[in-house]
Amino acid sequence: MISKDIEFCFTKDGTAGLYNRTVDDVYHSIFGAKTEAVEKFVRPLGLLKNFAHKKEIKVLDICFGIGYNSKALIEEIVKLKINSKVKIDILENDRKLVELSPFIKDNCEIASAILFRSLYQIIEPDILPVIFDKDNQKFFKPAVRRFIRNNKHDHYGLYSCNNLNVFLHNIYYHYVSQRHKKGLIPPNYRHFLITPYIDDARKSILRLSGGYDIVFLDAFTPAKLPTLWSLEFFIKLFELMNDESVLVTYSNSAAVRHAMVRAGFFAGKLFDRNNRHCGTVAAKSKRFIENGLDEFDKGLMETKAGIFFTDPGLCSSPEEILADWNLRKQNSNLRSTSSFIKNYKNKTEEICTT
Ligand SMILES: C[S@@+](CC[C@H](N)C(=O)[O-])C[C@H]1O[C@@H](n2cnc3c(N)ncnc32)[C@H](O)[C@@H]1O
Repeated sequence: MISKDIEFCFTKDGTAGLYNRTVDDVYHSIFGAKTEAVEKFVRPLGLLKNFAHKKEIKVLDICFGIGYNSKALIEEIVKLKINSKVKIDILENDRKLVELSPFIKDNCEIASAILFRSLYQIIEPDILPVIFDKDNQKFFKPAVRRFIRNNKHDHYGLYSCNNLNVFLHNIYYHYVSQRHKKGLIPPNYRHFLITPYIDDARKSILRLSGGYDIVFLDAFTPAKLPTLWSLEFFIKLFELMNDESVLVTYSNSAAVRHAMVRAGFFAGKLFDRNNRHCGTVAAKSKRFIENGLDEFDKGLMETKAGIFFTDPGLCSSPEEILADWNLRKQNSNLRSTSSFIKNYKNKTEEICTT
């Protein structure tokens, strides 16, 4: 457990994932926390084709959690030897998760080391009980576990003697230096600048200066926590993004796509390497949309399923947003989604049999 709401679990690629009891939602796919980040968020960016030529790539990672999307992006940039400077602004309202992120068993060693360099100054001692908890230790990097085992007797001094930074640095250098020796830390790791914004993302975006090339949106499922899927939130993101930029998300919801389009974006579908539908891309320029929405997706947006969330002052509670959404659905004259789907199926079956 990390707190009374959040617990660790292993995902199928061996990387650690999380589950939230209160929201009743997972943070990561059970098929693999890292795999999901690579397949749904990083691969669709077309880094080499679309961004490698830029002097600086500016990234906004909304709902950073324990950071798989940013870490997978960093690993890919390093692997592809892209020399651009990379600035990543991370938005997350749970400070502890951000602080734990460099230590998690994530199969992203280089990215974790880079992340640690940017984060260690904000790390507070209240993450120590989580790291030292026996039941949690299997979810941390082997180097962290080894270090804790070898320094068992020193734990309590960390809280009272303000030695936390020394402790963290020891862990860090323990595994970073190994990597230096093996030549695994790339010479350009200083090119990464990572800035955390720990607050409700709706407040944090008001403090950002914009110019983003890449936006990751990885909020909880819209119908469970609609806060970061409203029309007004997408309008704000549209203002913060470059003309040649992309926003990627795992969501395929018609309501989310409708809000994106209303905010001014072109929207398209994402497919994984097995050609399975795995999310949505939004961009200001059509050139970034490889697979546009088809007739079915567009039709769905015009039914009740396409009614988007609204949050006029970017400060409503999730309950208020959901209550307003349900009321607008009840009072709407739009076509029901089930009748649209039935009709669409019949129509396509007719076409197939004629
Ligand atoms: C699906 S998880 C994201 C997982 C994450 N990308 C990762 O790699 O671990 C959603 C995250 O959104 C955060 N969150 C929820 N509501 C938020 C809000 N209003 N502002 C900022 N972060 C929020 C949660 O704390 C959680 O970490």
